[in-house]
Amino acid sequence: MNLKSYIRDIPDFPKKGVSYKDITPLLLDHNAMQLAVKLFINNLPHGNIDKVVGIESRGFFFATLLADKLKAGFIPVRKPGKLPYSIYTENYDLEYGSDTLEIHKDAIKEGEKVLLHDDVLATGGTAAATCRLIEKCGGEIVQCNFLVELEFLKGADKLNNYEVSSLIKYS
Ligand code: PRP
Ligand code: MG
Repeated sequence: MNLKSYIRDIPDFPKKGVSYKDITPLLLDHNAMQLAVKLFINNLPHGNIDKVVGIESRGFFFATLLADKLKAGFIPVRKPGKLPYSIYTENYDLEYGSDTLEIHKDAIKEGEKVLLHDDVLATGGTAAATCRLIEKCGGEIVQCNFLVELEFLKGADKLNNYEVSSLIKYS
C-alpha cells in the first residue's frame, strides 16, 4: 500500500499557486490509517514517551491515535482563545502577518518525554512555535513527526535541534 496515493492534490487552494495536500482520502480508509499509525510508531526512537502533542486542528487526527498506541497522554496545542486554563503563548510568522498557538502550562511535567505530531510540515513555523511551547513547559522533545513533508519549503531547517520524521515527502 502506497500512502502517497491517498493524498489528493488540490490546485490553487486556498489561494492561486498553492497546491493543497488533502489528507481526507487517507482518513477515509481504515487500512491506510492503520498503516500510517504503524509506520509512525516504527519510526520512533527507542524509549518511553509520556505525552503526545497534536497541533490544532489537523494535527489532532493522528495525535490521539498515537497517544493511545503509546499509552501516553494527549495534549492539544490550540489556536488563540480556546484553552480555558493558565497558558503559554507563542507567535510565529506567516507569509503575511503572524499567528499564535497556546498550550496549558500544566500539560507537561519537567523532564517529560514529548512527541510532537502534525499533519503537514510546510515552512516549519507552526511546528517550531510548538517546540518552543513544549520547552517552556519543561518537556523534552523526542521527535517531531508529520504525515506529509513539503521538503521544498525547508521546514526541517527550523527544526534542526530535533529529530524529524515524515511518512510522505514531496521534494
Ligand atoms: C496547516 C497544517 C500545519 C501547518 C503547516 O495548518 O495543518 O499545521 O499549516 O504550515 P507551516 O509548516 O508553514 O507552519 P493550518 O494553519 O492551515 O490550520 P489547520 O490545521 O487548522 O487546517
Ligand atoms: Mg495545521
